Amino acid sequence: MSENGKAVLVTGATGGIGSAVCARLARAGYSLILAARDTGKLQANCARLEGLGCHSYRWISVDMSSDASVASFSHELAADGTVLDGVVLMPPQMRPTPDCQPPADTWRQLFQSNFIGPLELLKGAISTMQPDPSRGRRAKIVIISAITSVQALGNYATSNVLRCAWLAQAKTLSFAMGERGIHINTLSLGGTLTPDYAASIGDRATKAGMTFAERLAEETSNIPLRKYGSPEEVALAVEVLLSPFSDHMTGVNLLHDGGFTRAY
Ligand SMILES: NC(=O)c1ccc[n+]([C@@H]2O[C@H](COP(=O)([O-])OP(=O)(O)OC[C@H]3O[C@@H](n4cnc5c(N)ncnc54)[C@H](OP(=O)(O)O)[C@@H]3O)[C@@H](O)[C@H]2O)c1
Repeated sequence: MSENGKAVLVTGATGGIGSAVCARLARAGYSLILAARDTGKLQANCARLEGLGCHSYRWISVDMSSDASVASFSHELAADGTVLDGVVLMPPQMRPTPDCQPPADTWRQLFQSNFIGPLELLKGAISTMQPDPSRGRRAKIVIISAITSVQALGNYATSNVLRCAWLAQAKTLSFAMGERGIHINTLSLGGTLTPDYAASIGDRATKAGMTFAERLAEETSNIPLRKYGSPEEVALAVEVLLSPFSDHMTGVNLLHDGGFTRAY
């Protein structure tokens, strides 16, 4: 599935999932723009891509919670004439919380960093796209979300709300932009075994006096496939959604959760 030369922006590019997505897309021949806040981690990730034999990448740092930072990111993206063929958008991870009535300031901060900021960044990215469906040139946007987009979970009170907002926005954009050949699909993840998530399982295992394997088996016992996903599995799904596989798909919310979600 070589996509030589196509340019894709990956946000959250230094995280557990973003790193796997970048490695997979780089191997597939995409030209990458990596985005996150920490410049040291961005440089280290680029060095890893170089080590994989990939040479077409660059990074731009951005803090999606800051309007000024997102504006400067979009300016930098446009300034060098970048034409994007794809975006993998990862709004920052939300912390689990059972508090369904957080203070107004918490909501303001969360909407800013997890919805308004990423959406503004996406607007800048879309403005660089030059799809031409009559010539088979399509632009693909994959929004990384979570299963709270379709099923409310008790310990993810704020995520329940923001993930639904993203789903509605993805659907709205897909209707508005389909004619131009811009596709917007959402990939909703269940638990995914990134290094951070594995560490949190390790902590829970220690507290419960269990081994890691025992705790993992217990936590995944209500997942039909009896496992969490891996970052590499997510990366493969992202690559497929960017490929011609999705040439007649837009506005779709694909669940990547081992069958956990009960909703239709
Ligand atoms: N892992 C899971 O089990 C799981 C499950 C469901 C959904 N997800 C979703 O999958 C996506 C990636 O998750 P992950 O586990 O890979 O998370 P992660 O390891 O915590 O990585 C988060 C990434 O986002 C960047 N980031 C954080 N805050 C940012 C901000 N304000 N502005 C710009 N970049 C920011 C981080 O880099 P900097 O800190 O340098 O900015 C990092 O690159 C997230 O959207 C998450 O909600 C994950």
